[in-house]
Amino acid sequence: MEITKPRVSVKNDVQLFQVLAELLPRKNEILEFNSRDSEAMFMRMNSVAKILTIGTPELFAAAVQEAARQLCAGEVVALPTETVYGLAANAWDSGSVSKIYEAKGRPTDNPLIVHVADWSMVHSCVSNWSPAADRLARSFWPGPLTLVVEKSARIPLNVTAEGSTVGIRWPSHPLMQAVIQACGFPLAAPSANLANALSPTSAEHVQAGLGDRIGLIIDGGRCDVGIESTVVDITGAQPHVLRPGMISAASILQVWGEAVPAVSEKGGSNASILRSPGLLKKHYSPRGKLVVWKWETETGLRHQLAEHQWQASDVQVIAYRHIPRGSDFRGISILREDPQAYARAIFAELHACDAVEVPLIVVELPPLEPAWEGIHDRLRRASAQEASTHALH
Ligand code: TXA
Ligand code: MG
Repeated sequence: MEITKPRVSVKNDVQLFQVLAELLPRKNEILEFNSRDSEAMFMRMNSVAKILTIGTPELFAAAVQEAARQLCAGEVVALPTETVYGLAANAWDSGSVSKIYEAKGRPTDNPLIVHVADWSMVHSCVSNWSPAADRLARSFWPGPLTLVVEKSARIPLNVTAEGSTVGIRWPSHPLMQAVIQACGFPLAAPSANLANALSPTSAEHVQAGLGDRIGLIIDGGRCDVGIESTVVDITGAQPHVLRPGMISAASILQVWGEAVPAVSEKGGSNASILRSPGLLKKHYSPRGKLVVWKWETETGLRHQLAEHQWQASDVQVIAYRHIPRGSDFRGISILREDPQAYARAIFAELHACDAVEVPLIVVELPPLEPAWEGIHDRLRRASAQEASTHALH
């Protein structure tokens, strides 16, 4: 077989991926497969998402350019934000947005958050921007706060799950901001995980969950906040926290100037919660069973395990204060007793448990203080047994 070798000169990953994308359709001219199986395997290897890093100004610029190119062409791209990685698409274009639902296997009744990077984008997404909305936005943006407001006609209905409101967020991650600016349109982006799986806080987490379903992941390092944004509905007379996060209900209250009914520990009948369809389902769950327990001594912890007929060798303990010493546990993770540091680390711990299929994860009950409310919420959901009829049970 005589073949002309393609001559290739590349300076960075982006150029390499462009060359590979050009060569792929010509694979049968260049390569000879001895079976359909080996051809299928070759294609599978090439369907793993490309990861671009942003460690130097040149790499950063190249990653922004490639992400924007694909987003402008109507594709989805996984991008880092300060909270968790998002799976982004052009928020003006319903066709692009539908690819997000497809890649994640997300039910279409769960609305998406729209990410913006300047005030004119904010105004083009919303139809009624109140002084209170402006106060909250100016206090917490860019940052991990999503405001649910009346949507403008420009937002397609599949972004909002047919609803009249839209969740808007101005993220602080510089890569995300640069990509939105390069695109010139806002980006609809849910967390970049399969529906009902844990949110990703690193590019590797995205690759493990969605790698064979998307083409490109930008690696912006480990997420700084580590849990998803606080979602607040401000369409009524009072703001309602639909999903707690690291911006606490108390700090929103301070800016709003009136009492904020925070989502209660025990749930309740707050109608506003039911207005967030995504919160009705079991979410954020690792594959193994997760329980949140309190113990004072290692003996106390072992008693609880025995009561539930668990062997220490099946158990990964995640603790911050009462750290067991026994070497018979499957593993012990020690997190800092600091809400910011804890939030930054917890999902990575759960992902690590997922990767090796830990049967039982025992999490030490975090402090019952407002700064920990977002963390309590995620642990509660991760420990939920099945789809609940209420968000916070
Ligand atoms: O930090 C975050 O919020 C991340 C990053 C990527 O920005 N995004 C994220 O998106 O967590 P997602 O789709 O995984 O969660 C968004 C939540 C869902 O529970 C959804 O139901 C709710 O926000 N939500 C979105 N738009 C809404 C709306 N118009 N009304 C009520 N709830 C809404
Ligand atoms: Mg999510």
